[in-house]
Amino acid sequence: MEIFYTSKELKERLSEIKGRNEIIGFVPTMGSLHSGHGTLISHARNASDVVVLSIYVNPTQFDNQHDFKAYPNAMQADLDLARSLGVDVVFSPKTEDMYEGVPNANSVDYGALTAAFEGSKRKGHFDGVVAIVRRLFQIINPEKAFFGEKDLQQLAVIETLCKREFAQLEIVRCPLVRDVDGLALSSRNVRLNPKERIIALELNRTLNRLKAAVNESVEGSVDLEAERSALESLDDLELEYLAIIDAESFEEVGEEKWNEGHAVIAAQVGSVRLIDNLFMG
Ligand code: PAJ
Repeated sequence: MEIFYTSKELKERLSEIKGRNEIIGFVPTMGSLHSGHGTLISHARNASDVVVLSIYVNPTQFDNQHDFKAYPNAMQADLDLARSLGVDVVFSPKTEDMYEGVPNANSVDYGALTAAFEGSKRKGHFDGVVAIVRRLFQIINPEKAFFGEKDLQQLAVIETLCKREFAQLEIVRCPLVRDVDGLALSSRNVRLNPKERIIALELNRTLNRLKAAVNESVEGSVDLEAERSALESLDDLELEYLAIIDAESFEEVGEEKWNEGHAVIAAQVGSVRLIDNLFMG
């Protein structure tokens, strides 16, 4: 496994690979890797000749400086996991290489996709995500890029970016990976204390209850408002949103189409912000 710390050296290496017409599969991450990232790497390994993994905590996508500073770092363990899963190339750049001058990101407007839910709760978040993913795509120029359904809205934003600016690039959707207790894996989970971790399980429980109710198809059995109230009544959990949306547009879907939508949820538990989602069909 090769590790590159500058875009210049990485590009030189990748131009040799491209000269051999090999398929480059790219997995962008912010490190502190877990099995969710591992799934993306395995999908990339199966579907490409050369797997490139980036590890970079992107400052412009954090609306909360405390969250940015507290973002976990586990470089040595990340490199070990990457090697064990067959990654060929790791790219771990410095901010000066990713941004000219003070890091900042232009505003991105893909309608509800960038304005609603994560877009409204984390101001500027998708501006930062699009800025860094665009820059990484320009440097690496992969044939395929792998993203997880854990960040369902991010996936839809990236698909839109690709349709508009990288038409040749295939975005591969990879399934959300959960811990044995149902909690969606996230690098931030290490910041939950044992009590908070138990409370965090309510997110997944709520989504499962909604799915069961949607599929019972008894009129009135799905009560989104009651689920919201139940979450809001919990100590140590602050609900940001719970809704059933169309996974492409991120517009809320009417009750008659709930079984075609995804339930999406975001909540603050202690100092950790958590998101989760589940297909309702
Ligand atoms: P990060 O949170 O490190 O996630 C990197 C990729 O792993 C994303 O595509 C994310 O959806 C996926 N992932 C994370 N947890 C997962 C889980 N439990 N199951 C399946 N996939 C999961 O997302 C980012 O970084 C950044 O925004 C990035 C795209 C790298 C741009 O900075």
